[in-house]
Amino acid sequence: MSRVAYVNGQYIRHKDAAVHVEDRGYQFADGVYEVCEVWNGQIVDMPRHLDRLDRSLRELRIDWPMSRQAMEFVVSEVVRRNMVHNGIVYVQVTRGVAKRDHFFPGSDVAPSVVVTARSASPAVAAAQAEKGIAVVTYPENRWPRVDIKTVALLPNVLAKQNAKENGGKEAWYVDTDGNVTEGGSTNAWIVTKDGVLVTRPAESGILKGITRAVVLDLVAREGISFEERPFSLEEALEAREAFVTAASTLVMPVVRIDDTVVGNGHPGSVATRLRDAFHTATDLKAVVA
Ligand code: PDD
Repeated sequence: MSRVAYVNGQYIRHKDAAVHVEDRGYQFADGVYEVCEVWNGQIVDMPRHLDRLDRSLRELRIDWPMSRQAMEFVVSEVVRRNMVHNGIVYVQVTRGVAKRDHFFPGSDVAPSVVVTARSASPAVAAAQAEKGIAVVTYPENRWPRVDIKTVALLPNVLAKQNAKENGGKEAWYVDTDGNVTEGGSTNAWIVTKDGVLVTRPAESGILKGITRAVVLDLVAREGISFEERPFSLEEALEAREAFVTAASTLVMPVVRIDDTVVGNGHPGSVATRLRDAFHTATDLKAVVA
C-alpha cells in the first residue's frame, strides 16, 4: 500500500506530494504544526491539539485553512487512508504561497495545509521506555515565543543533533539562570531526591505540551506529590527520576543527563506508572476503517 498525504485539498501519493517553491513555510518558516499520537486505531487528544493549533494560528495571524470540523475529518481520513494503527499524524499550516516578500501577503493568498501520517512500532517504543534514554544539555538559544508551535525548528534540530552526536536521544535546554526549560521536542520533568514530581510552568520558556497536560491530569487523579516550578540542572542531576513527555514519545524515562546517571540508572517508578496509565486520561477518537 502506498502512503498518502493531504496537500491543499487533495489526497496525493506521498512520494508525489509537494508544495510550491514559494510557500512561506519553505522560505520563512512562516507556519505552524501539530503532531497527534495514533494509538490502537484512535487519534489521541485531537480536540486539545486543534485548540493549540487555533492558538498558534491566531498568534501568527494565519487564517484557518478550512473549518475545524473539516480539519478533524481530513486528519482522520489521512490516518485511515494510510492504515496507521499506531503512529503519528502531522498537520502543518503555513501562510501560503506568494512572491518572496517579508510582509504578509494579501488576503487573496490562502494558507497551505499538509497532513501526513506514519506508523510507528509500539514494541520499539516500549523497549526504549524499559531502558530509558540519555539527554544532553544545550544552552537555551531559542526566541522567546516558543509557546507557539511554529515550524521554525532550526535551534531544536541543532540541539537534538548535538545530543545524538554525544550519545543522547534528546537535548535539554538550559537557560542563563541554570534552569532546564524543556527538551528539543519534549517537555522535561524530574522527581526530586525527596520524591516530588516537578515540571516547569508553561507560562513562558516552553511549549505547553498536550502530553504534559494529560500527565498533569493523571498526577492530580493519582494524588502524586507535585510542584509546578522551574528546576535547575543542578537539581536534575541529583534527582531520583527524570523523564520527558511528547505526543511522539509519551512518557519516556531519562536515565542519564550528560555524564550523570539519574537515580539508579533505570526508569523510575513514577515515570513508569504515568506511562502505563497514560491512555486512561486521554480523549480518544476512533478512526473508522
Ligand atoms: N514536539 N516541547 C517542544 C519543543 C516540542 O516540540 C514538543 C512536541 C513538546 C511536547 O508537546 P506535546 O506533548 O503536545 O507533543 C514540547 C512534537 C512531538 C514534534 O516536534 O515532533
